[in-house]
Amino acid sequence: MVLGHGTTVLPTFMPVATQAALKGLTPQQVEQLGVSLMLNNTYHLNLRPGTEVLRQAGGAHAFQGWRRNLLTVYVPSIFYQPDTAIYGDDINLPVQDSGGFQLVSLSSFTEITEEGALFASPFTGEPTMLTPEESINIQHAIGADIIMQLDDVVSSLTTGPRVEEAMERSVRWLDRCIAFHKASGNDKTQNLFAIIQGGLDEGLRKRCLEEMIKRKDDIPGYAIGGLSGGEEKDIFWRIVHLCTDYLPEDRPRYSMGVGFAEDLVVCVALGIDMADCVFPTRTARFGVALTFKGPLNLRLSHHSSDFGPIDEECPCPTCSSGTSRSLLHVLITHETVAAHAITQHNVVFQARLMGRIRDAILEDRFPAFAKAFFKDYFGSSG
Ligand code: GUN
Ligand code: ZN
Repeated sequence: MVLGHGTTVLPTFMPVATQAALKGLTPQQVEQLGVSLMLNNTYHLNLRPGTEVLRQAGGAHAFQGWRRNLLTVYVPSIFYQPDTAIYGDDINLPVQDSGGFQLVSLSSFTEITEEGALFASPFTGEPTMLTPEESINIQHAIGADIIMQLDDVVSSLTTGPRVEEAMERSVRWLDRCIAFHKASGNDKTQNLFAIIQGGLDEGLRKRCLEEMIKRKDDIPGYAIGGLSGGEEKDIFWRIVHLCTDYLPEDRPRYSMGVGFAEDLVVCVALGIDMADCVFPTRTARFGVALTFKGPLNLRLSHHSSDFGPIDEECPCPTCSSGTSRSLLHVLITHETVAAHAITQHNVVFQARLMGRIRDAILEDRFPAFAKAFFKDYFGSSG
């Protein structure tokens, strides 16, 4: 996939730099790890530094010193969870993020109307309306290579008429985003992606796909939204499959909020090209290193005299410099440098995983790869 800031080889995993940074790493480090596309949150950049500063800076690339591709999206508050353990056991204590503001509390203020999403400013409490047009206008100031439509999303556990309403509104908002984007002329440099909604209802998903595929000439890529919200895996897979089955072959397909290794293997098998999730970088800050033998909780005491690296074969700066599990075990509760070191490893792990999947597909041995992957990943821990 060739974008404004270079080529991104697919399938790819996009690390999440919610505000203008991937937590704990400089943009130069992220680039050196081989990341060619990362994600920023429209909402956060709009609050801080805001569109005026972004326009003065010459966009978010220049503002944050990031030379490669950028994707921006407005992630609704239902997708925010405070930093708690989401994988592995007894990992949910001391290493908390410093600074930042809590968006979680905002969900109760968000009200969706046909005009847009109404929420309270976290600074002033003033009601602020985000329309589809304004969301595109903000993303123009940011200047990301891939921008996302404003969508109406409900939790994947929601049932009833609200799911249909959100899907239909997402189609109408897509039209408003397309109109605004084309009128601005920015469609020559910034790629607007649509987001398929419809919850876990196959009929609604099909209707959304039909409508959004009709707009294909104005849509260089498609995301599958409204998943990874606590639904059963088999239903998640069924919906992803239904979508990839319908989506045009010549458009990248992006599954939003997918980051567990096992889910990436399955989603790519089902035809996914792009995915993002805070999981790999967030879990790193809790001391969990990802490996092909499953996640490794470095806070557990048995690592205290383990002098090997996280993964002997890993080319990341942490492993290749010989940083031991023992040192990381000691530092993780006291020094942020351990979180940085594990974050670098986990970003490289995601990239290696996507690389292995890609090679297996290109060399026509994906089934054998998947079988071996699951055996190692869920076998006895390393
Ligand atoms: N992040 C994860 N899923 C979604 C979704 O459906 N829509 C948006 N905007 N962001 C997401
Ligand atoms: Zn490593």
